Amino acid sequence: MSAAAEQPFETIEIAPMSPTIGAEIRGFRMCGDLPEEQIAEIRRALLDWKVIFFRDQDVRVEEHVAFGRRFGELEVHPFTPNREDHPEVVVIHHGPKSKLGQNTWHSDVTWRLEPSLGSILRGRVIPDIGGDTLFADMIAAYEGLPDEIREKIDCRTATHSFRHNFGRAMTDEQREAMSEKYPDAHHPVVRTHPETGQKGLYVNAAFTTAIDDMDPEESAKLLRFLYRQASVPEYQCRFRWQENSVAFWDNRAVQHYAAFDYVPAVRRVERVTVKGDAPF
Ligand code: SIN
Repeated sequence: MSAAAEQPFETIEIAPMSPTIGAEIRGFRMCGDLPEEQIAEIRRALLDWKVIFFRDQDVRVEEHVAFGRRFGELEVHPFTPNREDHPEVVVIHHGPKSKLGQNTWHSDVTWRLEPSLGSILRGRVIPDIGGDTLFADMIAAYEGLPDEIREKIDCRTATHSFRHNFGRAMTDEQREAMSEKYPDAHHPVVRTHPETGQKGLYVNAAFTTAIDDMDPEESAKLLRFLYRQASVPEYQCRFRWQENSVAFWDNRAVQHYAAFDYVPAVRRVERVTVKGDAPF
């Protein structure tokens, strides 16, 4: 547990799920007009535990959106299906015909120059069995690396792109047009968290394409090793969804992976995403 996590909370209850990542939080109903002290404690819990969970949030979509706005401006995702009535709400819906899920470790929209700070995902239709989301603590992952690997990556940047993920479903022309709007981003391989100052591994299998200024074979080999760190059980927690459960994760500190093990059952979740800043 981080030193900060030992400070008591007064407006929420916290039930940690692992030594460094994940806590269930109780004591509020998600909406836009929670008191400032409670929002400050939720924010502190997010920094301490990197992903926090709330149960039984039977709220209107407007309340989900308004709650998200208490943590910053919300993004509109240019490539995902979004709600027509609230374009800032991403809809992730899979069912009998789905062939692909979100089952690659990633942090959200790292292909943006300023990737998301946090994502607030609510379960709407949850399968009886399966459909869990796994989260990996990328600060613990960085701290667990051998010294020689850390020395190799500490001052490097890597390229992130939407092309080999969202871009796969586009025509060449669409992909080129979108690349003008969303050019490749070059982010540090090791990111310093802007609020906690902790260093974390910031490359992911969904969007990172290469370590910059490195021989392509060496880069591919090193990236494969770095991606595998998210799969280490000691860095993880796993969330079993129920309808109206919410997961709020800090994209600057964790990666996530949605287990795609429930088809032909239906799973529908809705996400609002808080804008972040340029990694350093
Ligand atoms: C996501 O990648 O944002 C979705 C995660 C999930 O469906 O659990």
